[in-house]
Amino acid sequence: MPQHQSMPQSDADSIVRTLLRETFQNERIGEKSGAFTRSGMSINELPRLYELVRRNAIRNVLEIGMGHATSSIVISRALADGGGGHLTSIDPFQTAQEKPGYASVGIQNLKRAGFADHKLIELPDYLALPQLVADKAAFDFILVDGYHSFDYTLLDIFYADLLLRDGGVLCVHDSSWPAVYHAIRFMEQHKPYELLSPPPYMGSRSRLHALGRRISLAASGRLAGFRERNRRWNTLVAYRKRESRMAAEKVFDAY
Ligand SMILES: C[S@@+](CC[C@H](N)C(=O)[O-])C[C@H]1O[C@@H](n2cnc3c(N)ncnc32)[C@H](O)[C@@H]1O
Repeated sequence: MPQHQSMPQSDADSIVRTLLRETFQNERIGEKSGAFTRSGMSINELPRLYELVRRNAIRNVLEIGMGHATSSIVISRALADGGGGHLTSIDPFQTAQEKPGYASVGIQNLKRAGFADHKLIELPDYLALPQLVADKAAFDFILVDGYHSFDYTLLDIFYADLLLRDGGVLCVHDSSWPAVYHAIRFMEQHKPYELLSPPPYMGSRSRLHALGRRISLAASGRLAGFRERNRRWNTLVAYRKRESRMAAEKVFDAY
């Protein structure tokens, strides 16, 4: 069975939808496929996050970017359902009152969902991640969903690779954003990672571009995979780290 075919869809979907409806006290969560908070993951992809944590016997998770904590809540529930584990989140703006601060809303959401055992490192990624490496921290699962520029995303992936144990799972959100997509493509081409989700696609620049891409995907027999990505995975992408290996110094391929 291809890695990205999930456990029966209804299990993870119904657990996650019920959890989020109760936590956000919003019965309508799940009716639309987009994100249901200012910054959070969509109802389509959160069940995939749940499944990835459950099916890979994950115990120790790091996420970069907590925001409204939709990912933190789902990861915490998957850890609890799998027998327990621990989540650490990096976010420099979680408790700050003024924008871009979140005024602790993510922490409150996580507590409302029943998960108080959580560690927040309230520093930017470029300070928090090297400190974790220096402390010899190691994780089974890392979610990258912080600041979505190319440089910050590549930095997050670089440190995630150092912090992930061999066999661990790396997830990146918003993989269709051009900057995020290019950072992922660098990793795909220069590091030994195995794809667990459908492949990432860069967002279309125009309707004409979108149409051209559909025609080309249909011609090459990849349209079904593309639809699967949009319907069930949205912009989430997941990989298994095969081994620790530095990227080569001399690289000539385009990415
Ligand atoms: C898209 S939101 C995360 C959403 C969250 N994963 C969820 O599911 O609700 C992006 C987050 O990245 C955080 N962020 C911005 N710059 C950052 C940085 N340099 N290091 C770590 N996190 C950062 C923001 O404060 C924001 O909470």
